[in-house]
Amino acid sequence: MANAGDRFDVLVLGGGSGGYACALRAAELGLDVAVVEKDKLGGTCLHLGCIPTKALLHAAEVADSTRESDQFGIKASLEGVDMPGVNSYKDGVVQRLFTGLQGLVKSRGITVIEGQGRLVGPRTVEVEGQRYDGKHVVLASGSYPRSLPGLEVDGRTVLTSDHALALDRVPSSVIVLGGGVIGVEFASAWRSFGAEVTILEALPRLVPAEDESSSKALERAFRKRGIAFMTGTPFQSVESQDDGVTVTTKGGDTLRAELLLVAVGRGPSTSGQGFEEQGIAMERGFVLTDERLRTNVDAVSAVGDIVPGLQLAHRGFQQGVFVAEDIAGLAPTPIDETGIPRVTYCEPEVASVGLNELVARERYGDEIETVSFDLGGNGKSQILKTQGFVKLIRRTNGPVVGVHMVGSRVGELIGEAQLIYNWEAFPEDVAPLIHMHPTQNEALGEAHLALAGKPLHAHV
Ligand code: NAI
Repeated sequence: MANAGDRFDVLVLGGGSGGYACALRAAELGLDVAVVEKDKLGGTCLHLGCIPTKALLHAAEVADSTRESDQFGIKASLEGVDMPGVNSYKDGVVQRLFTGLQGLVKSRGITVIEGQGRLVGPRTVEVEGQRYDGKHVVLASGSYPRSLPGLEVDGRTVLTSDHALALDRVPSSVIVLGGGVIGVEFASAWRSFGAEVTILEALPRLVPAEDESSSKALERAFRKRGIAFMTGTPFQSVESQDDGVTVTTKGGDTLRAELLLVAVGRGPSTSGQGFEEQGIAMERGFVLTDERLRTNVDAVSAVGDIVPGLQLAHRGFQQGVFVAEDIAGLAPTPIDETGIPRVTYCEPEVASVGLNELVARERYGDEIETVSFDLGGNGKSQILKTQGFVKLIRRTNGPVVGVHMVGSRVGELIGEAQLIYNWEAFPEDVAPLIHMHPTQNEALGEAHLALAGKPLHAHV
């Protein structure tokens, strides 16, 4: 129990991935910690993001496997998708993890203060009329689904991912606004469940932050799956009717569907929380920090989606741990944002770490080499009937600076890829290391063999 006027070593504002990781690590280091949370510990990742969407995508994979079972000689037919059933599976996963997290936080002796917090002094947070002080304050208030000016989200026909996760039916047709991570993941799941899906993306390709070759491979796979997409096509307007929406693009095309999903990015949840009033430097709603995640105000740090950069849960975890260790005086090494692995869990998956080829060329000119190993030469991928590749970028006579992969389940390969990137391994360091046969992981090994000049199951 917290009492008004309590002073904690570390007072964390927000109990999502960044905030709770900071609290857990700080408590582990012997500090007296409190977390202020207005909703549920676990935040977007656990309740409205990573976990429920990946459960949805797993149910989608089950639907695909059933529908396509014939190609493996198995006779089965997909009778339908019981969305309430899918939702109860998804909610069960979330609930079990939530219970576990609450137990973990309690076991570390962390005080949880329930309610909406507001910074009322540089290191003072007010929650429902009570004030609490921290020797250090960590801002970790997370993000929300953004919309566009003039585009009203009504939760009925125009949805964000928050609404989409609670849908109790499979829509017959959906227009997905934004071909970024959220857009392609929902497009993928809905298509597997049987919906007609069209993605509208303003930039020239789907998942535009990825290597161009990954975008191209994903687009090819989506085309085969019957997922329609219009790239280089900015959104103009939407009109809602009783039974659906009519969307007009900037090019003048009109499209009709039952629903519109708005997936044009997530904004920082910082307004109305007193940050500006306390003199914290901000830009477009984000909290500015140095590489040690310290704001311009003494003993106030920030972590997670409110800090400009990749809005990923595992970045939040690591930033939270970093700040806890920094406060405890352990002098941790700043995080290299480029070394944070990225996975988009659509079918097929897209995974990467390090630089894409465009950025690597901007940085190193012609002093780079690339190799692409086609999953056609990988036994396990053939067994799974998935297509794609592992692409590597190295500095000439130097380390691997980028790994890019497309294919079913390749997200699971990113663990080794991030070690290779972050340990600045040369392809020659990786080539002699043995990769288990038959796994998809071998494709990563084969790509390094090829880049080290000794390809095995690849043509020279
Ligand atoms: P995003 O930034 O990945 O994609 C938004 C897309 O919308 C962009 O490609 C953008 O060009 C497009 N767009 C913007 N305005 C448009 C317009 N007027 N007309 C047409 N297209 C337009 O943001 P998203 O997908 O909403 O995801 C938000 C955050 O959540 C991301 O930072 C992402 O990293 C994170 N996330 C991560 C996941 C993962 O790691 N698997 C899964 C889901 C979300």
